[in-house]
Amino acid sequence: MFDLIIIGGGPAGYHAAEISSKNNLKTALFEKRALGGVCLNEGCIPSKALLHSAKVFDYSKSKAYGVSCVSYEIDYPAVIKRKDGIVRNLVTGIKSTLKKSGVEIIKAQALISGRTENGFEVEADGKIYEAKNILIASGSEAMIPPIDGLKDAVESGFAITNREILALTEAPKKIAIVGGGVIGLEMASFMASVGAEVVVIEMLDKIAGQTDTEISELLQKVYTKKGVKFELGAKVSGFENGIVYYEKDGKKESYNCDKALISIGRRAVTKDMGFEKLGILMERGAIVTDETQKTNIPGIFATGDVNGKSMLAHTAYRESEVAINTILGIKDRMEYNAIPSVIYTNPEVASIGETLETAQQKGMDVHEIKLPMVYSGRFLAENSETTGICKLILEGEKIVGLHMIGNYSSEIISTASVAISTEMSVKQFKKVVFPHPTVGEIIHEALFHI
Ligand code: NAI
Repeated sequence: MFDLIIIGGGPAGYHAAEISSKNNLKTALFEKRALGGVCLNEGCIPSKALLHSAKVFDYSKSKAYGVSCVSYEIDYPAVIKRKDGIVRNLVTGIKSTLKKSGVEIIKAQALISGRTENGFEVEADGKIYEAKNILIASGSEAMIPPIDGLKDAVESGFAITNREILALTEAPKKIAIVGGGVIGLEMASFMASVGAEVVVIEMLDKIAGQTDTEISELLQKVYTKKGVKFELGAKVSGFENGIVYYEKDGKKESYNCDKALISIGRRAVTKDMGFEKLGILMERGAIVTDETQKTNIPGIFATGDVNGKSMLAHTAYRESEVAINTILGIKDRMEYNAIPSVIYTNPEVASIGETLETAQQKGMDVHEIKLPMVYSGRFLAENSETTGICKLILEGEKIVGLHMIGNYSSEIISTASVAISTEMSVKQFKKVVFPHPTVGEIIHEALFHI
């Protein structure tokens, strides 16, 4: 009898397993594919490895820093090999951490087969396991909607998802990126750097979803300059081998290409695991959870993408900490207002909290301080070809949002996470000493422009 059975070995599952076991709960983790889940194997980490290679290649081509490379080329198989090595390293690391923590790892698909007197029964590979509590961390998968010809295009390998694009053995000459959200933009960035012709087909009239409009327009401008074509207000309507059809301004358009990346959102993985039979409540395909990560069934918890709240690995980590604390009887709850998000394009985009627009829609009395990133000496020293913006959103003495475009934004945004999650006042934040010269000083600078 386990105290906790965890279904899914991605960030939500492996983090929960480690802390659960370290807190003396007898823990089993079921993973049918690879430990690390989408994030480590086919998402966050491999994409960052590819994007870093692309950035190094871009620097080799650049003449802006007084360095001229006599010759440069992208060795695509070597880029993929490097990425695979990084993934292998991390997956091995997670496996050894879990083993050291005493977690029983079971490589199999788990099915919650019923209730027992003391908890639940889980079936995997013909064996029955019992646990007092279950944590569902089964993650998400790329959404493949019933668009004309898409199913066949996926089967033939013309249409690909985040999984296949990271494993291509050569760069496509022409690629359609369907969906100009996070995955779409990161992959458009990589493909443009390695020399592919890239067309982003996005249904909305802006890229990057909820991102501050000025920042998303600036990002689009930078990528247009790099040769990426954006078809906005364009809805994909069909696929044939080598052709993507879309509708724009009432007209049917098409784009001939070698590959089409489908990046139009993700959906929770909930099928064939016995959730319906047990009566676990779901809404729009995701498991409903409360602020302590409980589902409607006492003893069953759900963290990470499967609850559909915020499909980000760092949200998953925190949700799993909350779930384990709840099982241990330690009071804890999830706060969703201080979750940063990053788009790892070049330049990076990072944001947290309210934008001026969302705050005003909520009737909040806010004001925005906007500074160009060149106010930072370090930024100016290191960025000859691109510029950036930092926008701080304040409600009285409270920081309620920070939005940035420009490199290192992904690292700097944590400073705002600390300020927002601890409800630090502007007065207190001003007293914090930032190292000089750093790009992060831009936040400190902004505080003195109030
Ligand atoms: P997304 O929700 O970010 O973007 C999907 C885009 O597709 C939207 O802009 C939408 O308007 C568009 N779209 C939908 N249907 C369309 C159609 N028929 N034709 C044209 N456009 C259409 O979804 P994405 O990029 O697939 O990412 C999925 C999840 O993965 C997100 O929740 C994201 O947070 C997470 N993720 C996070 C990363 C990060 O933190 N850096 C990196 C990669 C993924």
